[in-house]
Amino acid sequence: MAAFRALGLAPWLVAQAEQMGLTRPTPVQEACIPPTLRGHDCMGCAKTGSGKTAAFVLPILQKLSEDPYGIFCLVLTPTRELAYQIAEQFRVLGKPLGLKDCIIVGGMDMVAQALELSRKPHVVVATPGRLADHLRSSGTFSLQKIKFLVLDEADRLLEQGCTDFTQDLEVILAAVPGARQTLLFSATLTDTLNELKQIAMNKPFFWESPSEVRTVEELDQRYLLVPEKVKDAYLVHLVQTFQDEHEDWSVIIFTNTCKNCQVLNMMLRKFNFPSVALHSMMKQKQRFAALAKFKSSVYKILIATDVAARGLDIPTVQVVINHNTPGLPKIYIHRVGRTARAGRHGIAITLVTQYDIHLVHAIEEQIKMKLQEFSVEDRSERSVLNILTQVNVVRRECEIRLEATDFDEKKEINKRKQMILEGKDPDLEEQRKAELAKIRKKNGEFRSRVQQTLREKKQQQLRRKLNKKMRRRQKRQPVAAE
Ligand SMILES: Nc1ncnc2c1ncn2[C@@H]1O[C@H](COP(=O)(O)OP(=O)(O)OP(=O)(O)O)[C@@H](O)[C@H]1O
Ligand SMILES: [Mg+2]
Repeated sequence: MAAFRALGLAPWLVAQAEQMGLTRPTPVQEACIPPTLRGHDCMGCAKTGSGKTAAFVLPILQKLSEDPYGIFCLVLTPTRELAYQIAEQFRVLGKPLGLKDCIIVGGMDMVAQALELSRKPHVVVATPGRLADHLRSSGTFSLQKIKFLVLDEADRLLEQGCTDFTQDLEVILAAVPGARQTLLFSATLTDTLNELKQIAMNKPFFWESPSEVRTVEELDQRYLLVPEKVKDAYLVHLVQTFQDEHEDWSVIIFTNTCKNCQVLNMMLRKFNFPSVALHSMMKQKQRFAALAKFKSSVYKILIATDVAARGLDIPTVQVVINHNTPGLPKIYIHRVGRTARAGRHGIAITLVTQYDIHLVHAIEEQIKMKLQEFSVEDRSERSVLNILTQVNVVRRECEIRLEATDFDEKKEINKRKQMILEGKDPDLEEQRKAELAKIRKKNGEFRSRVQQTLREKKQQQLRRKLNKKMRRRQKRQPVAAE
């Protein structure tokens, strides 16, 4: 208790933190809370599960208690589920203040959100897309008086991944005052540092976890080399083994696409495993329901895309399985960080096919340690081979069932919706794409024609040279014969 007090936090807040089980500050909290209280901007780069959320929630609550008004603080985060989780921490720690928070994320009723915003909550936790929509469309609230802007998973918010937040961020940054404190946190900040420095310009304080290895010590990291066709059978076998050997277990399986996520969930259900799926093509209500079922351990397996890779704090997760090897080391760090949190132990197993070995090397280089091979006994290999045909047949059945629904169609509709939200005309975009493809095709054809001509010319030259040589030799031969 004294340690949190020593950081400059008020007794009521320290008591509240203690009630939540936060008795001693973690290193990132110890490093970042005092400069934040002193008014500096702060960038905190600390490992997954190391308490970065409380590192910004606690000092903000303290400042809010000194001068409570709304809207005092804006927190941005890349996913909807994470927004709810952060708001929950504000609510619990800020209970003695009677804290009013408001969550602004996509997939939820916009009118209700606008109403909540107009009631001036103390803290707004938002995903950039929806908040920018509110800013573009309504004048019923203002962010002009905020004291704190927080970017949790800041590097993700700045990078141009499959969901590009940069345009929405521009709208939001134009709506917040220049005189504010900016707090940026992530387990992987360093490669976006220059961009981050442009957002946090008020005497920024940068803190990075001193350890060279970028994943937590308590995490046992393994890889399992499997041929592509046997991957699902190994997955079923691994899950079965965890179920048989552990009473209290819970697993997150990460996969690369929404469709794969859906198929794997259907497949595991067919084998009577208690699994739920979480991906961005599900309705928001279904997403929340799936996560709630998993968090309460009603369902022991969560199959997710990278929408669940960052920030989610579910202490019961002991195992993370990467059904595909992540293409980016950063994504690997966040995925495996869903287990072994806050000093607990956990294991991460990455299924690696013959095509992914270079990805594993890139991961090892980034995290500064080698993954160990997950040893499979002969007995286990035999049982994998025994279920191989059955698993592949079930998977194919699930794929056919999914194709019979309008899953792909929905994907297309979602794409079009997203374009409309971005102010683009989907038909025009389609035309542009088709034209671009035509131009690429023409260019390709032209290039191959040029290459063909060059090849022919070269051959002609070669032939000419050869003929010359032959003629010269023939001329010399009669001389030699004489
Ligand atoms: N001082 C503390 N003592 C004990 N537990 C703590 C402390 N601070 C935070 N925790 C707990 O640690 C867990 C992980 O915290 P948090 O979600 O903030 O991690 P994080 O650093 O943001 O991780 P990620 O990079 O995955 O987002 C939470 O359950 C939180 O309650
Ligand atoms: Mg976090």
